[in-house]
Amino acid sequence: MADWKNTLIRAALEARKIAYAPYSGYKVGAALLTEEDEIYTGCNIENASYGATNCAERTAFFRAISEGKLNFKAIAITGGKEAPEDYAYPCGICRQVMQEFCKEDFIILTAKTEQDYQEYRLRDLLPYGFGGEKLQ
Ligand code: THU
Repeated sequence: MADWKNTLIRAALEARKIAYAPYSGYKVGAALLTEEDEIYTGCNIENASYGATNCAERTAFFRAISEGKLNFKAIAITGGKEAPEDYAYPCGICRQVMQEFCKEDFIILTAKTEQDYQEYRLRDLLPYGFGGEKLQ
């Protein structure tokens, strides 16, 4: 039976199908799990002015945050040109967004398929991160 991780990865794989990536051809899907067990998905959204591109992870975070969600358990990420042939790791900007809204034990699943994935904690992918507490 599929557990919550498989379910989250499946949602990310579905989101990847609607990625808007006409420039890079690299399609990314993400699925973010809230503390209330809701899933918010996101895909990358590219732009002819490349810097205006938004990553899949941030699309998922911003959708959730804009609906009042602020507590998160995990995110599944899947990316690749043809298929998710490699594990897709979040870029530095997305890691920094995770730092803003997640605790250090936030779970990051990078997946090729529902069964084939790597699991990390935010503290593994962003050690010594810069957070708002430094500004108190
Ligand atoms: N991309 C993501 O969606 N997430 C990441 O963490 C890395 C990069 C997207 C942005 C762009 O549309 C494409 O992948 C190539 O950089």
